[in-house]
Amino acid sequence: MKDLKASTLLVLLINTVLLCGAALAAEDLSPRVPADKIAAAKELRNPIAAGDSMQEAKKIFTGKGRCYTCHGLSGRGDGPAGSSFNPRPRDFTDAQWQRMRTDGEIFWAISEGTEYGMIPFGGILSEKERWLAVDYIRELGKNRDISHETAASGELGVTK
Ligand code: HEC
Repeated sequence: MKDLKASTLLVLLINTVLLCGAALAAEDLSPRVPADKIAAAKELRNPIAAGDSMQEAKKIFTGKGRCYTCHGLSGRGDGPAGSSFNPRPRDFTDAQWQRMRTDGEIFWAISEGTEYGMIPFGGILSEKERWLAVDYIRELGKNRDISHETAASGELGVTK
């Protein structure tokens, strides 16, 4: 009986440690657009339908925009140039993050950057290219279960 109690306590202790770890690792999903700009940002409408432009969109992410260097080819926020950032570059496969952000907010963050380290691309990518990047980020969100290898081999986003 004494042993049983001890092992129950141990399990409880381990659970507590695991839960604390999970809480610390949890992503900070708070809005990145400043409070006085967020209403306008949320209202921005994406003029580019995903679908047909996905190849072009991928080129922004893996080419001209070099987003993958920080966000990773699969969008998990694990690119080699991203490891020194705190918080880490956003993990676009995070379903909760995908649900919480409108296209307009994502576009705003790409254009203006964020105070936590995302660099502004307003002067680097055209407006169209920034919307394409938004579409590609949405696409990455759909591929949550895809392996790093598949993404790295360049198959991601060329589903048709
Ligand atoms: C030099 C590294 C770096 C590059 C290159 C980079 N990012 Fe980021 N990005 C970050 C970091 C760091 C964050 C996290 C900052 C934060 O949490 O506010 C971030 C966050 C974001 C966010 C999330 C904002 C939010 O609402 O949570 C978006 C969207 C984004 N990046 C898109 C892009 C796109 C698109 C490109 C390429 C055009 C790109 N990033 C290139 C470092 C980078």
